[in-house]
Amino acid sequence: MNINQELKNNLQEGFSRVFGENRETSCYFAPGRVNLIGEHTDYNGGKVFPCALTLGTYAVMSQTTSGQIRMYSENFPEIGIKVADWDDLEYKEKDNWANYPKSVIYKLKQEGYRIESGMDLYFWGNLPNQSGLSSSASIEVLTCYIMVETFKLKITKEKMSILCQEAENEYMGVNCGIMDQFAICMGQQNKGIFLDTNTLKFEYVPIELGEYQLIIAQTNKKRTLGESAYNQRRLECNLALNDLQQKRKLEYLCDLSKEELEQNKQFICNPISYQRALHVVSENERTNQAVEFLKEGKLEEFGKLLNESHCSLRDLYEVTGKELDTLVEAAWKQEGVLGARMTGAGFGGCTINLVKKSKVEDFIKNVDAEYTKGCGLKADFYVVEIGNGPQKIFV
Ligand code: GLA
Repeated sequence: MNINQELKNNLQEGFSRVFGENRETSCYFAPGRVNLIGEHTDYNGGKVFPCALTLGTYAVMSQTTSGQIRMYSENFPEIGIKVADWDDLEYKEKDNWANYPKSVIYKLKQEGYRIESGMDLYFWGNLPNQSGLSSSASIEVLTCYIMVETFKLKITKEKMSILCQEAENEYMGVNCGIMDQFAICMGQQNKGIFLDTNTLKFEYVPIELGEYQLIIAQTNKKRTLGESAYNQRRLECNLALNDLQQKRKLEYLCDLSKEELEQNKQFICNPISYQRALHVVSENERTNQAVEFLKEGKLEEFGKLLNESHCSLRDLYEVTGKELDTLVEAAWKQEGVLGARMTGAGFGGCTINLVKKSKVEDFIKNVDAEYTKGCGLKADFYVVEIGNGPQKIFV
């Protein structure tokens, strides 16, 4: 990946300012991700269709002879340098964001990998804060990749994604699925990753949008209850699955077609759980179909499925909220929009929009105005590019 000289200088100067000059350093990058379709299916054995972005997290790293890992983020300068000891990697509230890189190092240690020396790590990311574009998975994968490269650990990128997901589940206490870490590890320029989260089999699908463009719109809503509501949805899905498993052999909700779910509806005791299951199963079918449409160049049909996905996340899964709904509904009204929906976990974060290139300016202007009028907040818009997975940028 080519980065401009200014960014390179900023990263190097930032490292020197925080950790001292004349050090031998190398610089690494890991992307963020956006999910095109397949939302809340990844912990139900379903399909997802995310891609990696060219936005992400950078780290300048220098090895030291101590047993310590010192970490600093230019995104949180007020938090200062956080120090973790190889022998004391436990989660600490006061370590704030640094618990993410620590979670991965902890996991590697638990798995028996030896990290021979200490290191200084200077982070900076250009993913918008709290955007739902996976800045946490980005820093996890980045840390893992740096460890793998530096200490020549024999870990494939697929395995890296699993380790990082486990680190997030076990250490950070967020029960996320595999999608974010996998998309970030396996990202390829201009390709979507059509992933079966049950088998981890996947296919790269070229994202050819012709005269259309992907635009991400960020609600700038503070996500407060996001994590507990996410874990709650997971629980509700498991309740539906448990009920169904009393009556038939079934590993995941997504092993069912929509028709089969309908036929077994009476076995799900709680109506909310049924509603969640209906979203999951229909979203899984939409994802399969959306990928087919995209391969056939049927962008209009693809866009309609994005819209349907949003409605299902709003009405059945109930993870949208006023801000995401206002942003998406404003987008639907604009000329040259083939589809729009919330993306990621929900409860704030971003929407993804498929917009005609010649209409992008109007789109941003109009949607922004309508959003501010409806929600009293300012949206941010990103014309995004699809990029590669983790990589070394310069030495
Ligand atoms: C978050 C999680 C993912 C996935 C999405 C919803 O991004 O980290 O694993 O569950 O929400 O699709």
